[in-house]
Amino acid sequence: MPASGNWLLSTVSCGIVFRMKLLVALLLSTPLLFAADFSGIWVSSIKQPDGHTDREVLVLKQSGNQLTGKVERPWGNFTIEPTTVEGDRFTLKAKTDDGYTVSYDGVLQSDQLRVTIHEPNGNPRELIASRSQTDPFMVTSVIAPPAVKDLSSNGLAKTPPMGWNSWNLFAGKIDDKTVREMADALVSSGMRDAGYIYLNIDDTWEGERDSNGVIHSNNKFPDMKAVADYLHSKGLKFGIYSSPGPYTCAGYEGSYGHEAQDAKTYAEWGVDYLKYDWCSAGRLYKDSDMRAVYQKMAEALRATQRPMVYSLCQYGRDNVWTWGPKAGGNLWRTTGDINDTYKRMMEIVDTQSAIAQYAGPGHWNDPDMLEIGNGGMTTDEYRTHMSLWAIFAAPLLAGNDVRGMSDNIKSILLNKEVIAVDQDAMGVQGRVAGQLNDVELYARPLNNGDSALVVVNRADAPTTLKLPWGEMHITAGTKVRDLWKHEDFTASEEQSFTIPAHGSLMFRMKAPK
Ligand code: GLA
Repeated sequence: MPASGNWLLSTVSCGIVFRMKLLVALLLSTPLLFAADFSGIWVSSIKQPDGHTDREVLVLKQSGNQLTGKVERPWGNFTIEPTTVEGDRFTLKAKTDDGYTVSYDGVLQSDQLRVTIHEPNGNPRELIASRSQTDPFMVTSVIAPPAVKDLSSNGLAKTPPMGWNSWNLFAGKIDDKTVREMADALVSSGMRDAGYIYLNIDDTWEGERDSNGVIHSNNKFPDMKAVADYLHSKGLKFGIYSSPGPYTCAGYEGSYGHEAQDAKTYAEWGVDYLKYDWCSAGRLYKDSDMRAVYQKMAEALRATQRPMVYSLCQYGRDNVWTWGPKAGGNLWRTTGDINDTYKRMMEIVDTQSAIAQYAGPGHWNDPDMLEIGNGGMTTDEYRTHMSLWAIFAAPLLAGNDVRGMSDNIKSILLNKEVIAVDQDAMGVQGRVAGQLNDVELYARPLNNGDSALVVVNRADAPTTLKLPWGEMHITAGTKVRDLWKHEDFTASEEQSFTIPAHGSLMFRMKAPK
């Protein structure tokens, strides 16, 4: 029966071939059979030399080879755009509500997730995450904020606060030694005597809480009380930073659930100013809870009996200018963060005139700290920065290295006539008052009947123009002080002024007799 034998043989070989084909087809078409399952909570914890642990969390959900989920950082979450797992690796994009997008390349290596993170402006960084049963950023029971009420003024910050803050230049690299050197330089440069009184340590001073819940400073600040004493001995005041959330924006310990305790600690140290930064509170509370959440810390600060200026930092959300003073705030940030570019500075400027009416003695719009001297703008642009912050009655918190300022930078930060406009007792915030092509005029009235004017050339080239004094109700012959040239002149429609690209003029017009 050779035929049937052949048939048997060919059936057997056909079966093998068929099964092999099936296997190849499966291998090619459904790599998920061999794909890793990334579902779960992946936590990266890196202990820093200051004692703080940096955390980043990926909460991943895999269905077939589709990957979704979120990335968590201390200050908030990114949503992962659905992506496809390729075997043991993935590339994903994650976005915040504000559209900030970061991409992650992940690969599974012996049950650890090795991730390369690409931020929009920065070198790629790597981290290794391990599976965890719990999410360190998850808060299960949220403490209800207090009932809202109108707080009366604390009597502080009658003029916009002036000082120096560590964040713009040093970010996380601020420590006890640098703070003391800045304090010395504020004194020796004449900054303190010009009014820059507050030395504010921003984020990353925080250490851990002890078993009683008391906050301690980290390795960078061995003794905060000693820092405060040093600053006070120099005739300065001491500012500190925290968040109403469990973590600050840099991922350090926040004041959530410890408000009264922290306020007491600050008072014991000798703190004179608190910047309170929303950050991770956004995981727990809605924007409409902000007022109550800020009020809670205001009340805690007041309960200590130590006067502390209260700075709200929540990036201008929920029209903070309408309730900031009632929540006990002396100043409130009106926008997201500044950076050391003319473009960003002017984006902020363009939002300030519309809210000018909300500023006044004891309660100020804060368009963020100064970048003057940090190197990203021209001298003319820094002069514009100073002129506009002064016309806006903005807090003047320098953010540069005051230990080694060039003469140009000193002449900007220490211009006493410009500072006098900023610190004017009437506290009326200036606003845009006119436009001549690329040139904008900003004006504010001053307490003694004088008025101040800033003329900004927004063009990328110098411009020459005559000023329409009459339209600004300045009669010909009015005495005008040029606050940058430190010279007097008489207003005349005939006079021409040349303004460099992105530069400014700043004038103080004498009150009519
Ligand atoms: C936020 C604030 C900044 C600074 C950092 C610190 O971004 O807006 O001014 O305080 O946090 O982490």
